[in-house]
Amino acid sequence: MTKKIEIKVSLQVFPKSEWTAEDGDLITKAEQVLENAHAPYSNFLVGAALLLENGETFVANNQENVSFPVGVCAERAVLSYAMGNRPNVRPVKLAIVAKRRQDAQLATVTPCGLCRQTINEYEIKFGHPIEILMLNPAQEILKASGIDQLLPFRFNDLNS
Ligand code: THU
Repeated sequence: MTKKIEIKVSLQVFPKSEWTAEDGDLITKAEQVLENAHAPYSNFLVGAALLLENGETFVANNQENVSFPVGVCAERAVLSYAMGNRPNVRPVKLAIVAKRRQDAQLATVTPCGLCRQTINEYEIKFGHPIEILMLNPAQEILKASGIDQLLPFRFNDLNS
């Protein structure tokens, strides 16, 4: 008989009335920097804010390139910058907010595959999950408790 390996994943959904102050603050910081994105090719603006265990917050946004694959997502930009400057401080939660330039309302965003693998890397480094907060146009926070909820069967699973 064939065996099935199944992983169930979930996101928690928080309407604005149920946001914590810490989550709301991080989402606001991500939203504030999305307009600084360099996104002349996609016009898809993404802001990211990363809270570290020492209370510091780092922010960044997507930086595109005329040679498209060279572009960097907001999540990898903020993780690289924060981890390059605070290599020994654990990242606690990462908020991302997106908007198409021409739209008034926000766009739903979830991290791309490269960014998921990058988040996974810092979970491995610190031996701790990183919460991922994604804002949708209904102003709900979609919260993943860790990268296992977004990247099941990820690479480190195969080695454990
Ligand atoms: N992008 C991000 O910065 N983060 C995501 O989670 C999704 C995609 C960027 C990459 C590119 O600059 C633009 O959004 C369109 O894909």
